Amino acid sequence: MNIILYGPPGSGKTAVGYALARRLEREFVDSDSLVEASAGRAIPEIFEQSGEAEFRRLEAEACAEVARRPGVVAALGGGALLNPANRAALERTGLVLCLRAEPAEMLARLKAEGNRPLVAGDDPEAKLASLLEARRELYASFSAQVDTSGKSVEAIAEEIENLLEPRTLRVDAPGLRHEIVLGYGLLERLPALLAERGLDGSVALVTDENVASCLAPLPDVPTLRLPPGEAQKNLDTARQVYDFCLANGLDRRSLLIALGGGVIGDLTGFAAATYMRGIRLVNVPTTLLAMVDASLGGKTGVDLPQGKNLVGAFHPPVVVISDLLLLNTLPSAERVSGMAEVVKHGLIGDAALFEEIEAAPKSFGSLAQMQRAIEVKVRVVEADPFEKGQRAALNLGHTIGHGVEAASGFAQRHGEAVAIGTAAEARLAAALGLCEPNLPGRIEAVLQSVGLPVRCPGLEPQAIRQAMSADKKKASGRLKFALPKRVGEVVWGVEVEEVVLMETLRMIIEV
Ligand SMILES: NC(=O)c1ccc[n+]([C@@H]2O[C@H](COP(=O)([O-])OP(=O)(O)OC[C@H]3O[C@@H](n4cnc5c(N)ncnc54)[C@H](O)[C@@H]3O)[C@@H](O)[C@H]2O)c1
Ligand SMILES: [Zn+2]
Repeated sequence: MNIILYGPPGSGKTAVGYALARRLEREFVDSDSLVEASAGRAIPEIFEQSGEAEFRRLEAEACAEVARRPGVVAALGGGALLNPANRAALERTGLVLCLRAEPAEMLARLKAEGNRPLVAGDDPEAKLASLLEARRELYASFSAQVDTSGKSVEAIAEEIENLLEPRTLRVDAPGLRHEIVLGYGLLERLPALLAERGLDGSVALVTDENVASCLAPLPDVPTLRLPPGEAQKNLDTARQVYDFCLANGLDRRSLLIALGGGVIGDLTGFAAATYMRGIRLVNVPTTLLAMVDASLGGKTGVDLPQGKNLVGAFHPPVVVISDLLLLNTLPSAERVSGMAEVVKHGLIGDAALFEEIEAAPKSFGSLAQMQRAIEVKVRVVEADPFEKGQRAALNLGHTIGHGVEAASGFAQRHGEAVAIGTAAEARLAAALGLCEPNLPGRIEAVLQSVGLPVRCPGLEPQAIRQAMSADKKKASGRLKFALPKRVGEVVWGVEVEEVVLMETLRMIIEV
């Protein structure tokens, strides 16, 4: 995995890059130096003699070269990733860290370096401010951000070195014990990570075609590539997984790896739970939703035509390997969809996580945010591994959400349906006097600012209601809801009168 430092001029990329490369004993490359070397001229000369277009062409070549040299630390020119093709190429093989600092400090650094066009002319403050404004969205769009203000080069390099160190979390509940490794560049180290944990035996991997076309699954491991989508989460596809396991000679000592989103995880997990009465499962989630939710806690299952997750088993993975680098290829709508579960985890048990999203709704997927969202689920699962009580809190947004998902014929993504369900269930909570009257509005505002829907015009309330009945979360024929009490706390096991529920369902289809 490459480590790529990016950010505005003066954010410290080159100095930190050198220091980091030294600490990690890696080669350091600088895109501007690559450009100068290939052109045989200094950058100001390239601009003067051949124009900016020629510079950008050479810069794109330099980015492609960095992407071809895995294992380096690289610093990029401040405009290099304005070109999305450069970004896609680099993010396929590397982690881009966006460095930033207070503008006054950036200017001071640039002046100290001298020979920088930005600070050479009049009013460098204004020039820097307008450059930062023009690139604000670009710089903010990287999930790994490092604030370099007031820190020494070595301190920043150390901070980045720590960020690169995988975190290990544990679900410590009898019958559901498993480890979660969270970090960057873990897929390429998967064989070593399994070996370190004594996870040997024959291995096979299940994934879907989208994932396989974006990521390079393990070259020597037999791989089943299924078509993508919720429609695959069924018993016929589970049967295909059994056939694949048999064809590859998997026995009770083997490992089955699920590389994909929640669909692949639930399906492969179910196959692993049942093949030869259960073989070991390794989850390698590739969506934000699967990382913070579906891959954790041991629930596996498939859908029946009558409803979602109607057949399943508790079968914890032996380990979950969450590689945040895999989120780089995830389509933005899928990333947004996964945020519904992060918001849900904030509502259930981490008010500060919710408030952080409220304050910066567009910055998602950072290591710290993912870790906190995972920790909420881990705590709930540990308190109630087999859903006798508290684990029902995780159903927040899901009782109505599953109804919306099914009534839409699964056109609505899981996370989108959960967002609509969460908004609706907050309204229910308010109607029942369980929460402050302003809570539903606050929750809806956060979901919408993340980019999630909170209404589903076009669906029939009755169809949503019927689909909810097929959902397995009803105990003894009655629906039980998990409802928000305040940010960070939910109540569960709540029964709701039919008229109140139908009123809410009519409300969520309004435009
Ligand atoms: N077991 C649990 O506890 C649990 C919890 C929550 C959700 N779930 C289940 O999870 C499922 C939803 O999961 P999901 O949202 O991950 O959907 P998904 O698995 O369908 O993935 C979403 C889409 O993204 C694609 N994709 C996945 N990773 C990619 C990557 N890195 N790059 C490019 N494309 C990629 C997939 O091919 C798919 O098209 C539902 O079936 C839901 O019931 C289970
Ligand atoms: Zn969910």
